[in-house]
Amino acid sequence: AIEEKMYRPNFHFTPKKGWMNDPNGMFYANGYYHLFYQYYPDKSVWGPMHWGHATSRDLIKWDEQPIAIYPDKDKYIFSGSAVVDVNNTSGLQIGNNAPIIAIYTLHDMTKEREGKIDVERQDIAYSNDNGFTWQKFEEGNPVVKNPGIRDFRDPKVTWDETHKQWIMVLAAQDRAQFYKSANLKNWEFLSEFGKDIGAHGGVWECPDFFPIKVEGTKETKWILIQNLNPGGPNGGSGVQYFVGDFDGKTFKLDPDFAKRVDKEKAVWADYGKDNYAGVTWNNVPSADGRRLFIGWMSNWEYAQQVPTNSWRSSTTIARELKLVKKGNYYNLISNPVRELDYYITETNRTKTLKGKENYTLVENEKVDLTQAIVSLEFKNLKQENYTFELSNSDGESLKFGLNNKENYLFVDRSKAGKNDFSDKFAATTSKAFLDGNQKEAVFKIILDKTSIEIFYNNGEKVMTEIFFLEKPFTALSVSSKEKMEINNVLIQKLDVLKKS
Ligand code: FRU
Repeated sequence: AIEEKMYRPNFHFTPKKGWMNDPNGMFYANGYYHLFYQYYPDKSVWGPMHWGHATSRDLIKWDEQPIAIYPDKDKYIFSGSAVVDVNNTSGLQIGNNAPIIAIYTLHDMTKEREGKIDVERQDIAYSNDNGFTWQKFEEGNPVVKNPGIRDFRDPKVTWDETHKQWIMVLAAQDRAQFYKSANLKNWEFLSEFGKDIGAHGGVWECPDFFPIKVEGTKETKWILIQNLNPGGPNGGSGVQYFVGDFDGKTFKLDPDFAKRVDKEKAVWADYGKDNYAGVTWNNVPSADGRRLFIGWMSNWEYAQQVPTNSWRSSTTIARELKLVKKGNYYNLISNPVRELDYYITETNRTKTLKGKENYTLVENEKVDLTQAIVSLEFKNLKQENYTFELSNSDGESLKFGLNNKENYLFVDRSKAGKNDFSDKFAATTSKAFLDGNQKEAVFKIILDKTSIEIFYNNGEKVMTEIFFLEKPFTALSVSSKEKMEINNVLIQKLDVLKKS
């Protein structure tokens, strides 16, 4: 009961009970956004993997559905994707709805125990009721056999409109592999990417591959999202990405982006510790054209030890991705989906705060900081630290902000409640390095009971972190050694639970 009250997020998705990791197979069909996820219903630690299921009309309010895909004995259903097969290329349609095809890794635990290499292969399942019930394609599985690679998983399929083909990207240990198909059943190997590029601190997992417009231009680029664990930007799991071009066969890194990778070693979609295995939705209404992303809001370093018992893990807020180019600098920006704004019940505005080294933004529980959005803009920044502090009467506090001397954003959760369940959880302050000294800075933060999501400069840099408090935060302040100038302070209350 206490963990329900303190730790069950107000508006981030969690399964009612059991263990969840990666988001899987997201698509939109017939008025619903579908979210599947790595799920073990019987315990709140990792185990025999199912595909759990939830649906939403608006990407914010989720309804848990019955389990979508069950494992057979020792044949775990690992991560993967799903596509709405609008033209019935698979021939698996029965009835009037376009079939939906799930493509996932079948992980064989018997073979794993025997020390075999060919433990993982790619299978499909299909749905003829818009994604609510599923059949495994027993007669045709596997659709991609194991080629002799131990880590060979997490297929993500997308329709390549330019070359009129289905493309599958999968993680093959230290690289991504690309396959093509006309019918989602027969797959042909095309090429691979990444063996010596980007971060390789751990095994590559959960890739995603999709075209995206460069904002404000007619140009299209391809994004390869490539999760890896460990080796993330602040330890453990992380989500890196690459920007390039795809000729229907091969993915080539864009020369400008290659320079960025050279300089930064790896480029990340999130610099906090708790955004992993994130991928994007298939079949989002095309009038809308958004590229929508959700991640698992945890980290393999401690995901199985966090202090919730009846369930473990939640997802991040759903985010819209955009590709922005400034000069020769490509950046995949992410922001919370606009649907979140629908749940704002009250907005407190302050136009300017000027001349002091310390401002209280929220005090005395005036705003419920377990469901709130706070945003503001700093002007005329000095070479100083700008530190936000969330706090409560128990002396718990979360510090985050901008170090404008050494040019990084930071989150320090070492005093933000329980952390003794893992020595990795709060050992270091997470950092996101910036290009240089900042003159202005825009912060938008999304707060739930156990998480903070920081969107810096309209999503140019993102940091997502979780925490476990004894009491909710009741105050928020910001301070610096220099006098500050802050514009457009918005403190917004959210009410996702009650408002329907
Ligand atoms: C990533 C991952 C995937 C795998 C799944 C198993 O978190 O390790 O590579 O498919 O989890 O649950």
